[in-house]
Order: sequence, then C-alpha cells, then structure tokens
Amino acid sequence: AAVEKGNYRHFMQKEIYEQPTVVAQTLNSYVRQADESVALPQIDFDLSAIKRITIVACGTSFYAGMVAKYWFETFARVPVDIDVASEFRYREPVLEEGGLAIFISQSGETADTLAALRHCKENGQTIATVVNVPTSSMAREADLILPTHAGPEIGVASTKAFTCQLAVLAALAAHLAVAKGKMNRAEEQEVVRHLIEAPAALNAALDHDDDIAAMAPLIAPARDVLYLGRGPDYPLALEGALKLKEISYIHAEGYASGEMKHGPIALIDEEVPVIVLAPSGPLFEKTVSNMEEVRARGGQVVLISDAKGLAEAGDGCIATIEMPDVHPLIAPLVYAVPVQLLAYHVAVVKGTDVDQPRNLAKSVTVE
Ligand code: G6P
Repeated sequence: AAVEKGNYRHFMQKEIYEQPTVVAQTLNSYVRQADESVALPQIDFDLSAIKRITIVACGTSFYAGMVAKYWFETFARVPVDIDVASEFRYREPVLEEGGLAIFISQSGETADTLAALRHCKENGQTIATVVNVPTSSMAREADLILPTHAGPEIGVASTKAFTCQLAVLAALAAHLAVAKGKMNRAEEQEVVRHLIEAPAALNAALDHDDDIAAMAPLIAPARDVLYLGRGPDYPLALEGALKLKEISYIHAEGYASGEMKHGPIALIDEEVPVIVLAPSGPLFEKTVSNMEEVRARGGQVVLISDAKGLAEAGDGCIATIEMPDVHPLIAPLVYAVPVQLLAYHVAVVKGTDVDQPRNLAKSVTVE
C-alpha cells in the first residue's frame, strides 16, 4: 500500500513525528524490558574477539556513525575509525584481521557505501549493516544485519531512520561492551533503562514544535548559520547544518564548539545566527564560554538545552528551545528533533520543496 501523509503537510513532518513510535519499535528488537538486557539478533561470530571497528556511511547515516564512535569507545573501549564512504577506499585503510566493519544506511543501496562494504569484505573484515530496507543489497551482503524498524522513509532528507540508527548502535555498543567484559550487569541495565526512556523523551521534545515554528522566521532570512555542539552532540551540530542546507537552502556549518575560535569566529556578526546544542552536564560550562565568545562579538545565539541549562545561560539569546532533561546517552536522539524541526519550519517559511529538495536524491546509486 502507498504510504500516505495523513494529516501532515509533508512526509518529512510526518516522519519526524513518527520517531517516538519507530524508535520504540526498533528498540523492541534490541532490548528486553523484562530483565533490562540488551538482546541482539543471532550473531555467528565471536564478538569478544573484535579488536577494531571501521564505520562507513554517507550523509545523515554518517553522523549516526560519528555519534556511535563515542559509544563504542567509551563503553567497549574498542578503537573506531570512521569515514565517509566516498573517501574510504581511496585512503588505502589498514584493515587488520579481527576487524568489524559497520555500514550504516537507510536505503542499503548507496553506491559509495556498498562499494566500501565490498572492499572490507575482500579484506577480511566481518561485515555488519544497520539498514532500514531489509531486502537491500547491503542487507544481503552482510554477516550481521541490524535492521532499523523505521518503516518507509519518503522525505529525501533522512529523519526517523537516523534516530532508529542511533538506537540500534547504542544497543550494539552496549552488547559489545558486555561481550568484552567492559560493562557489568548493573551498567547494562542502566543503559537499557535510559534507552527505553528515549521514546517518551522524543515526545517531550516534539512538544516544543510550536516554539520552534515560532522562531523559524528569525532563521529563514539568514545567508549563513553556524551550529555548535560538543562531544556526542557535535555530530548533531553537523546534522543540523546538513538539514538546513538540504531543505532550507541556507549555507550552514556544524562545528565543534571548542574549535570555533580557530576560524568560524571570524564570521560572527549580527547576520549569522549561531545555534548551540548544549544539554546541561560536564561539558556545559565550556560550551557556555564559547557562546559568550559569540555574544561578545554581536552574534545572535539560539540555545537548545534543558531547563537547567536555559536557566543558567538562556539570558541574552535571541531564542531558546527547551529540551527534556535526559541522560547523555539519549541526548543525541532527543536533540535530533529540534534540529530536524528547525530545518523543516525554516523550509516551510521559505516555501521550498521540503520532501523533494532540488538536486538531491533519496538514494544515491552512483559513486
Ligand atoms: C542521500 C539522502 C540523505 C541520506 C544519504 C545516505 O544523500 O538525501 O538523506 O542520509 O543519502 O543515504 P543512506 O540510504 O545510505 O542512509
């Protein structure tokens, strides 16, 4: 049956709103609520022998991989290399025995990612794919298929596939950590508890849609936008900038907050909105001081944070967006929502073709 928009104006909007449901649906296959354990599909190789992980993907899927690198390294202490698929083969990556190569793709057909998969296979890597289309080429050619259950994604700019990819990758990282003896039972239960809080937290993030729609006219006239984030929220800043480019046609750059002073700070003036993703926590103070550097130069800051963060640093921003107070593990899933909604509403203000942006394709099957 054809997928319908229902009461939504665009598929992208519908897909943003489906996230609490599809993330829950995806998590159902990766965690067991009863005993709060991670439960992956049957794995036919020895996970505990994995010495190194290579992650390869494109676009939004690549940013899911960047977030996952933090998780694989902090939980399982396994070193991770990550590349965009179009660059991967050409740098002649060192692929040693005992390596796991993970390919992340909504479509499972992106040509560059598929070529990278085949290269890794020829070079003795165990192949895992995180795909949303279970019949895709990448699913067929994998040793381990980790499906996302996002359902068909029609909007060209990926949204719900991304948060589902994050859910799967978090579960995989925890599973690997358990297999390697780096995560004990209590820690595993804690991770699972946080993961199953994600759907409710996504709903709480969606509750702020009206605030985001209200501030979209502030961003719509901008020629350039800067997105800042730290730690696992840095890839979210990159994703936020990508979304603005894709559907709102605004030039946007995502930067690690602390790196701003090495270049982009030269661009700051009243004309360049700076959107800061900063959940309260250990990295918050550092990000706030980066924000102050922006404001001291007349920069217009939009702060996306939880109530605590906004109370501490919200004054003097041109707009703030409140997110629920969540555990850092699920913050990248939750902060994906305002990032997507902002690009969406800016695109609506500008009247662009949200679901079929110019020059872009849903699945890029040429290298
Ligand atoms: C295209 C789409 C993006 C997507 C990327 C990777 O550029 O417009 O939304 O993130 O391809 O696609 P994949 O299917 O491999 O995740």
